[in-house]
Amino acid sequence: MLDCIESICFSEEEIADIVKKLGKEITKDYDGKDPLVIGLLKGCIPFMSDLFKNIDTEITLGYMKVSSYKGTESTGTIKIDGSIPDAKGRHVIIVDDILDTGRTLNAIKNVFMDNGALSVEVCVLLDKPEGRKVNIVPKYCGGKVPNAFVVGYGLDYEEHYRNLPYIGILKKEIYS
Ligand code: IMP
Ligand code: MG
Repeated sequence: MLDCIESICFSEEEIADIVKKLGKEITKDYDGKDPLVIGLLKGCIPFMSDLFKNIDTEITLGYMKVSSYKGTESTGTIKIDGSIPDAKGRHVIIVDDILDTGRTLNAIKNVFMDNGALSVEVCVLLDKPEGRKVNIVPKYCGGKVPNAFVVGYGLDYEEHYRNLPYIGILKKEIYS
């Protein structure tokens, strides 16, 4: 474990089990519907690539580059870089690493609903319920974390730690 990690919330093995379970649920719910599965870069990368392999039905892959954080603070302003996948008449599943204030996923959900999607659901690896500012409930959620800043398995602090195979709480001294 890296020195800057206070404690581990989810080990590599626990994450693998969680992702397998989420893949099964999505397979069951979307079999034959060819959903458009859209990952929010960059946090979704390891989660999305593992999740795919556990979905045993046809899906269409999409990505969007979205940002809202500066350091450990949510700015509240959602920025989309680049194009938005065409979701007209499609069932959409938005995949992200973590649901915190809910502002990002709520904004992206609305974009797809406004663009004529048949349905829009959210799949997050983690939920930080104490951080919520907007009412949004993920249909698929891997697990809950306390109100602390977590890193690893795609989650970053200033672009660091995304490569860790586990998810851990970052020591406060690193960012304060
Ligand atoms: P929200 O709009 O506040 O729900 O923020 C969601 C985004 O903030 C996620 O996609 C992450 O990129 C980032 N985020 C929120 N909490 C954490 C955390 O504890 N560690 C790393 N990134 C986080
Ligand atoms: Mg992110």
